[in-house]
Amino acid sequence: MHPIELQSITKRFKAAEKGEEEITILQDLSLNVIQGQSTAIIGRSGSGKSTLLHIAGGLDSPSEGKVFCSGIDFATLDDRKRSELRNLHIGFIFQANLLLEDFTALENVMAPALISGKKAKDCRERAVSLLRRLGLEDRMNHVPGKLSGGEKQRVAICRALMNEPEVILADEPTGALDEENATDVENLLLDLVKEEGRSLLLVTHNQEFAFKCDNVYLLKNRTLNLEKSLS
Ligand SMILES: Nc1ncnc2c1ncn2[C@@H]1O[C@H](COP(=O)(O)OP(=O)(O)OP(=O)(O)O)[C@@H](O)[C@H]1O
Ligand SMILES: [Mg+2]
Repeated sequence: MHPIELQSITKRFKAAEKGEEEITILQDLSLNVIQGQSTAIIGRSGSGKSTLLHIAGGLDSPSEGKVFCSGIDFATLDDRKRSELRNLHIGFIFQANLLLEDFTALENVMAPALISGKKAKDCRERAVSLLRRLGLEDRMNHVPGKLSGGEKQRVAICRALMNEPEVILADEPTGALDEENATDVENLLLDLVKEEGRSLLLVTHNQEFAFKCDNVYLLKNRTLNLEKSLS
């Protein structure tokens, strides 16, 4: 069983201005996210990378096909159960970092663990250690409005790692970072896969980062083409 399995996914969107007309973004696309491996998806802007990642994380539903998370079909769950499954198994780093604006960096990072019922003291300790690891020890008590774009992105990465997820879904996690911070984040994510046996599904424009991953796919013409594979 794979941590995430996409089976024959097709995704269509309504083109709002054109009445009922639909555009097909993904067509009959299948992908296994393999335990203990990193997988990168590259592709042009607008090719459907974020759409694919949202579907893989159960945040959006496919028009056709199935998505399994730890063997459970997302389509069989109601919204609450789907959120629970996500909270337990998946850490999501979004293209837009989506932090809670009224909460500090530390509180944002602690949130997923508090939601899953862990003790506040343990949550705080892990959150502080993650924030330190990403060089944010002096920014823990700042609200997102007082942080730079790169700092916000690093907070979002800490939050995604908070519950020690089996799978990390990351949409351009280094897009807003300078070279030094980008390299730190790349190494952190790849280390989590190597040392802790997690899985990473990454979307990036950064070819160098992509090809450090075990598997690389190019998303083109609504489907995935394998560019590099571990096996
Ligand atoms: N909710 C939506 N309704 C209609 N069209 C959408 C919707 N979401 C995305 N699209 C369209 O689907 C296509 C793929 O979008 P997506 O955001 O997945 O691209 P992407 O590969 O992540 O691009 P980028 O590299 O710029 O982030 C785009 O043409 C976009 O306009
Ligand atoms: Mg995108």
